[in-house]
Amino acid sequence: MRFTSQQAELPGSERVFPAGPGAEVVNDNCLACHSAGMVLTQPKLSKAQWTETVNKMVHTYKAPVDPADVQAIVDYLSAMNPQP
Ligand code: HEC
Repeated sequence: MRFTSQQAELPGSERVFPAGPGAEVVNDNCLACHSAGMVLTQPKLSKAQWTETVNKMVHTYKAPVDPADVQAIVDYLSAMNPQP
């Protein structure tokens, strides 16, 4: 699924995840219920914390994420949001 935006975007209001390794899988799995902006404005999280968050999406909110995609999603999110 692809979106293109014609509008200038404010920080925190991104509708899709910025390009990068794994961006496609995150865009495919993480936009059904909320915007990319709401994910990207989280405080910086470690890989372990992102794994927990993704697992929470899957188990608590029933996000239909393929278990084979979880690692790529976690890698992308921790690279986007590296720990200091
Ligand atoms: C099935 C729906 C659904 C999908 C798909 C989904 N989420 Fe969520 N997500 C939620 C809900 C519901 C909340 C809580 C929203 C709120 O508190 O307002 C949430 C909240 C969040 C938060 C805020 C922090 C938190 O822990 O509550 C983050 C970060 C997040 N999601 C990341 C992701 C990522 C990464 C993916 C892709 C793997 C994803 N979500 C896919 C439903 C989903």
